[in-house]
Amino acid sequence: MALFRVPTAQAPVTVASGDGGRHRARFHALTVSQVRPLTKDAVEVSFAVPLELVDDYAYLPGQYVALRVHLEGAEVRRSYSLCRPPIPADEGGTTLSVAVKRDEGGLFSTWAQTELTPGFEIDVMSPQGTFTSGLAELAGAHVVGIAAGSGITPMMALARSLLTASDSTRFTLLYTNKATSDVMFLEDLADLKDRYPTRLVLHHVLSREQRTAPLMSGRLDEERLRTIFGALILPDTVDEWFLCGPFALVDLCREVLADLGVPREHVRFELFTTGDAPAERGSRKVEVRQGEKAVRIEINLDGVSSTVESPVDAHESVLNAALRVRPDAPFACSGGVCGTCRARVVDGSVTMTENYALEPDEIERGYVLTCQSHPTSDRLVVDYDV
Ligand code: FES
Repeated sequence: MALFRVPTAQAPVTVASGDGGRHRARFHALTVSQVRPLTKDAVEVSFAVPLELVDDYAYLPGQYVALRVHLEGAEVRRSYSLCRPPIPADEGGTTLSVAVKRDEGGLFSTWAQTELTPGFEIDVMSPQGTFTSGLAELAGAHVVGIAAGSGITPMMALARSLLTASDSTRFTLLYTNKATSDVMFLEDLADLKDRYPTRLVLHHVLSREQRTAPLMSGRLDEERLRTIFGALILPDTVDEWFLCGPFALVDLCREVLADLGVPREHVRFELFTTGDAPAERGSRKVEVRQGEKAVRIEINLDGVSSTVESPVDAHESVLNAALRVRPDAPFACSGGVCGTCRARVVDGSVTMTENYALEPDEIERGYVLTCQSHPTSDRLVVDYDV
């Protein structure tokens, strides 16, 4: 998963199957086992998972992990999709791989490109995310993935897993980049195509490079998408859609597909997130002055209850306040996208600014994204354990 800012928008979400990825996230220090160059500015980073943690790191294709390091004196967290299909536990199940693309000025991604080598230890959160599916549901289906840039990473895991799981499943990938040199997993995709020549279809769209087919050259805008859906990928032949990329492209695809009559529940999507945490998050400088009105927030996490006061005028999120007394409170994107910071409001009330991660039924049951929630009652109790 690459790192972009999540724009303000209304909130629908990925369609989860079951409650995939909704277990509580935990960090463990894992050792980097390999750093493999993918392009001039992207690397694949693999982690060895010790046997005693194999169950904690069991994942479904399409899920992600958050990485936590300390750089330049500050904690930095970034989320990346797992790019390889899960290995069954009885075959080892001991490696996790993510792809990190260098962002202009990106602290973590630049460090990963230039400093990270095998042997480093990094805190890795247990896998999360709902951009996935029980494979059995899609056996024999025609699945389409639309990805931009590093949005390819969950597609690599999904395509490989789906094509392997059933010999009648077909996967079509529409993958857009600026130029061939930016295409991540170029050789892996070619290998996959060799392995499944009739069941995997690849369409590379390059925005700044001329390809033989004019349709495959230029920006993937509405006109090009509609032409592709009218000629190359016919929505009537598709059972399930997976979209991963920046908000503008994902939103455009969803709108065009909806306009073409594709039911929303068959279009799953994953947005890039910023990973750039608000500077004040968890700041210990926020404190209640004498006579100042404050909200009392009680946090239940891992069976332990902690309390923090949050000045009303600070307008801080529940997560920000919680981190002052519980630095182990889970979060990853801070943008309302990943769902890692989910907790249930047991008493009191909040308003949520953004929500790209919770299903309507979760909200009805009282779940909120603490990174996006602001108390609206004098007392608030949130529980991360339920
Ligand atoms: S930390 Fe990702 S939604 Fe709150």
